[in-house]
Amino acid sequence: MKILVTGAAGFIGRYLVPMLAGRGHEVVATDLQPPRDAAPAAGISWHRLDVSRAEEVYKIMLGQRPEAVIHLVSWLAAPCEENPLRGWEINFRSTQFLLDAGLAAGLQRFVFTSSISVFGRGLPEPVADDAVKEPATIYGQTKLACEHLLRWYRTKHGLQVGAVRFPWVYGPGRENGITAAYSSKLLDALARREPLRIGFPEEKGDWLYVKDACKALLLVLDRDDLPRVGYNIMGGLYSVREAMAVAREVCPEADIAFDATAAASSNPYPLAYDDSAARRELGWAPDYSLAEGFREHIALVRGTRGPA
Ligand SMILES: NC(=O)c1ccc[n+]([C@@H]2O[C@H](COP(=O)([O-])OP(=O)(O)OC[C@H]3O[C@@H](n4cnc5c(N)ncnc54)[C@H](O)[C@@H]3O)[C@@H](O)[C@H]2O)c1
Repeated sequence: MKILVTGAAGFIGRYLVPMLAGRGHEVVATDLQPPRDAAPAAGISWHRLDVSRAEEVYKIMLGQRPEAVIHLVSWLAAPCEENPLRGWEINFRSTQFLLDAGLAAGLQRFVFTSSISVFGRGLPEPVADDAVKEPATIYGQTKLACEHLLRWYRTKHGLQVGAVRFPWVYGPGRENGITAAYSSKLLDALARREPLRIGFPEEKGDWLYVKDACKALLLVLDRDDLPRVGYNIMGGLYSVREAMAVAREVCPEADIAFDATAAASSNPYPLAYDDSAARRELGWAPDYSLAEGFREHIALVRGTRGPA
């Protein structure tokens, strides 16, 4: 299948693009930024694309005519709060450009990366897919609006659509997003053998390894006529303190200390989510336990293991 990926040079894109090519797909990889690893690879072509510019989106869609789009570009929570209008332009309007241009170019399927931020606090946990969605952030609002938009394109135009709602995705190379500091960046520091002094041990979230996040995207890509548009996709719920206990098992020499006076979590989202619909309807299950994800993350950062 010919698949156009947006945000391909970003954190998740850098794992997803080679995975798609490895499955024999022809990948049209697009981003505002050049890829970090510019080495040419079979089945992957790179293109500069600003998804917020309709003319650029139409040009690449009509020129490449992909069968599927996996749309990863998004402003994350902090920049959306600082500049809501631009956040809506990047997150929502660009999604609409891609859908419209895609229809003009014969697109058949559209896979979207949503987020648990579509849910607000105060819901009974674990939060099910069909729970009330009252997002606490602009970022969450844009993600929820995109899910509704996908539903409309499915009903109106028969497009195959699906969205995954990710929690904290961790893995080597995550630089953006508030939760990177609670997850990926701690593991990066451990891999570099730096001492960790953690002031937020009770911060809690669901840890999903980046390759499992890509697995979920592939499951949505492969399915026709999904019974719902959006799926909660979960790894495992741990506080930073609990996760660092696992990190110590993986990395016994780790020097980790906690600030005993640290405040409780300031997370604006519910903590526990129910991903049983994805398990039932997509066959979803993570391949990596927390220890396996941590072991691979640390080995990749230390360069003792290849990215495959
Ligand atoms: N990483 C997580 O923990 C997480 C959690 C929930 C949902 N998600 C969603 O997954 C998707 C991918 O996340 P990520 O962590 O890889 O993000 P990222 O910030 O690492 O990558 C985003 C990419 O989009 C590109 N980009 C930004 N503006 C652009 C524009 N106007 N035109 C073209 N490209 C542009 C950036 O250059 C970057 O390479 C996003 O939609 C995000 O909301 C991520």
